[in-house]
Amino acid sequence: MHLFKTISSDRRSILKGLAAAAVAPLAGPAMAAEGLPKAPTGLAIASDKAYWDAVRGLYAVTPDIVNLENGYWGVMPEPVRREFIRQTDMVNSQNSYYARQRFGADFEAVRVKVAEAVGAAPEEIALTRGATEALQLLIGGYNRLKAGDTVLYADLDYDSMQYAMNALKARRGVDVVKFDVPEPATRQAVLDAYTKAIEANPKTKLLLLTHVSHRTGLVMPIAEIARMAKAKGIDTIVDAAHSWGQLDFKVSELETDFVGFNLHKWIGAPLGVGFLYIKKDRLSEIDRDMGDEDYPEADIRSRVHTGTINFATVLTVPTAIALHQEIGAPAKQARLRHLRDSWVSRVRAFRDIEILTPDEAGSYGAITSFRLAGKTSKADNDAVVAKLRDGFRVHTVRRAGVAKGQCIRVTPALYTTEADLDRLVEALAVVTGTRAG
Ligand SMILES: Cc1ncc(COP(=O)(O)O)c(C=O)c1O
Repeated sequence: MHLFKTISSDRRSILKGLAAAAVAPLAGPAMAAEGLPKAPTGLAIASDKAYWDAVRGLYAVTPDIVNLENGYWGVMPEPVRREFIRQTDMVNSQNSYYARQRFGADFEAVRVKVAEAVGAAPEEIALTRGATEALQLLIGGYNRLKAGDTVLYADLDYDSMQYAMNALKARRGVDVVKFDVPEPATRQAVLDAYTKAIEANPKTKLLLLTHVSHRTGLVMPIAEIARMAKAKGIDTIVDAAHSWGQLDFKVSELETDFVGFNLHKWIGAPLGVGFLYIKKDRLSEIDRDMGDEDYPEADIRSRVHTGTINFATVLTVPTAIALHQEIGAPAKQARLRHLRDSWVSRVRAFRDIEILTPDEAGSYGAITSFRLAGKTSKADNDAVVAKLRDGFRVHTVRRAGVAKGQCIRVTPALYTTEADLDRLVEALAVVTGTRAG
């Protein structure tokens, strides 16, 4: 009897716990940014110190280094991190019972939320573990190519997407052509380079485009290029790994039918989540992922077959999106550009410095790269990164793959302060020899 009572009260509390868990996963977002004042409007949006100090207060980052390497991924703000821990604990305690009973519906709710936020229909979105998975599935799955066609990409595109394009030679029998984006880049020079590459390769059927280059931060005029390509019967696949959340846009503005996104960079979701977009009437042109049979062929979810994922990561996405929306995409974009301008405007005139990212409106976001004139090797740029790190406690990263030589990428985040950028400017004054150290 006693035993029965114990078991039965245990069962009651487990069931209570499960009932709570059933509503808990998506209950977080409303509380996402408690304590954040109302965002300023108009021109003040980018430089309102009190507001951005409050945003900075949402992040727990080490004071040991000025981290200007936020292009790798976006650390979670505290409300998101807390939600991730809560969801991790929930999944760990509710175990496969949660996963079997509830996760399907919760996962679907997240997909709907992401679609709404990016301006797509849910049937145009499938969640992935990141932009790499999304873009590999799009590039590898694009089934309209035939032997003898040409596919095109540029030096600034991301390495693993270049590999996926190169792999099409063996997979589809196509010719793969790579060309260089001009440096220094201007919007017109970029457009001209893509026009020239397309005209020089009349058999082109597929073009890879990167919205924000991870090498130089250059923002490509995607819609114009995609329109020009479409007029010639060329499809575009857009790598938006770095853009959504850094820049303010909806997917339709890219005028492209196939796009890969990240949620763990500028949306601030936990590591391990992104998504792909396929325009509704184009689904049949991307193959099912390894012949998936879990979903019907007409369901975009058959285009991604990841296997077991980190449930808590996905369950935290709505909280990250809620905070992204509370601060607001226009405010984030304006702030990040303001931070970028704050250092670039002061160092452009420094001795022997080359800024690779143009100042033209619409051509940059948070990221900008530089090199010291003539210093194009790995060793040259590693040395500068080391000087900034060891001499000034400023963390940056060397980037390779730019046709005219290697460079150093600087990426502030929403938690970056003007004082952080003052430190970078002082360091660059010394490193370039503009001012004695
Ligand atoms: C332009 C670009 N594309 C694709 C990726 C791949 O993203 P992930 O490694 O998060 O899948 C990155 C990552 O830095 C990137 O910068």
